[in-house]
Amino acid sequence: MADLGFDGKVAIVTGAGGGLGRAHSLMLGSRGARVVVNDLGGSRSGEGADAGPAQSVVTAINEAGGEAVADGNSVATADGGAAIVDTAIEHFGRVDIVINNAGILRDKTFHNMTPDMVDPVIDVHLRGAFNVTRPAWLKMREQGYGRVLNTSSNSGILGNFGQANYGAAKMGLVGFTRVLAAEGAKYNIRVNALAPLAWTRMTEDIFGADAAERFLPELVSPIACWLVHEDCPVSGEIYSAAAGRVARFFIGMTEGYFDPALTPEAVRDHFDEIRDEKGYTVPRNPADEFAALAKLFEQG
Ligand code: NAI
Repeated sequence: MADLGFDGKVAIVTGAGGGLGRAHSLMLGSRGARVVVNDLGGSRSGEGADAGPAQSVVTAINEAGGEAVADGNSVATADGGAAIVDTAIEHFGRVDIVINNAGILRDKTFHNMTPDMVDPVIDVHLRGAFNVTRPAWLKMREQGYGRVLNTSSNSGILGNFGQANYGAAKMGLVGFTRVLAAEGAKYNIRVNALAPLAWTRMTEDIFGADAAERFLPELVSPIACWLVHEDCPVSGEIYSAAAGRVARFFIGMTEGYFDPALTPEAVRDHFDEIRDEKGYTVPRNPADEFAALAKLFEQG
């Protein structure tokens, strides 16, 4: 089989001045995509701005024979999102791929978490994905082609101590991914989510120095590239990627317990059965959940 190429495609990667976004951009750029390297260039918690990081990634792509342009807008506002998409249109004439990757951290245990720790985190991760994807989406619908990848996290999918703000935003992106997958299907727009683990400035103190060599951002980029490739058939799915392993997260539903005259006591008495993972299914959409119910109704 031929190598995966991106000739003719234009990709926006947000938060691409360092870490995972940088690695994704370099890989896409080396495989023929023209890349908008977006990064505000602020601190890990989202303060300040610096055009340097995005520009250095652009220089690296261009020096390696690729084509890229830097963009310093913030994903956190609708105007910023529109300006990022405008950069793609002005420089490259189209947009085929959006990787929503920009992120900040403001960790605190929930009882200590004040609004100034919540709003900026939601604004960058969750609203940021809306802000950048929507103007790109309008172009993608028009052209009948698009690929979107949203960066989620096990902090939301599985729940991580001290990250209620971040976890909520990251799990919000799962819902965003699944709804857009449904809406994009007839326009050949596919939308997936990635839950990465990599040693970056965001995680260096959590992982510790020993993990630096194993948890390379470059080992997450292969699944990111595949998920935004034209040939990738899936949409609405969530992938875990870390240190060279790729796996799929999915949302399962147990067979459950059915009683048309359900009472709280019946729930209590059948709780083990309700929770039993044996025979679980993986509904692709709400229609699958209704179909499971319809089957029970038929059985009486
Ligand atoms: P990073 O801190 O190196 O990268 C995030 C980038 O986003 C930074 O370069 C930052 O300047 C940029 N950014 C922040 N706010 C922005 C804004 N308003 N507009 C534009 N750019 C902005 O960290 P890393 O690890 O590369 O994170 C990338 C993504 O992966 C984030 O969404 C993060 O939450 C997610 N993630 C990372 C994990 C890891 O193990 N490194 C684990 C799970 C998720």
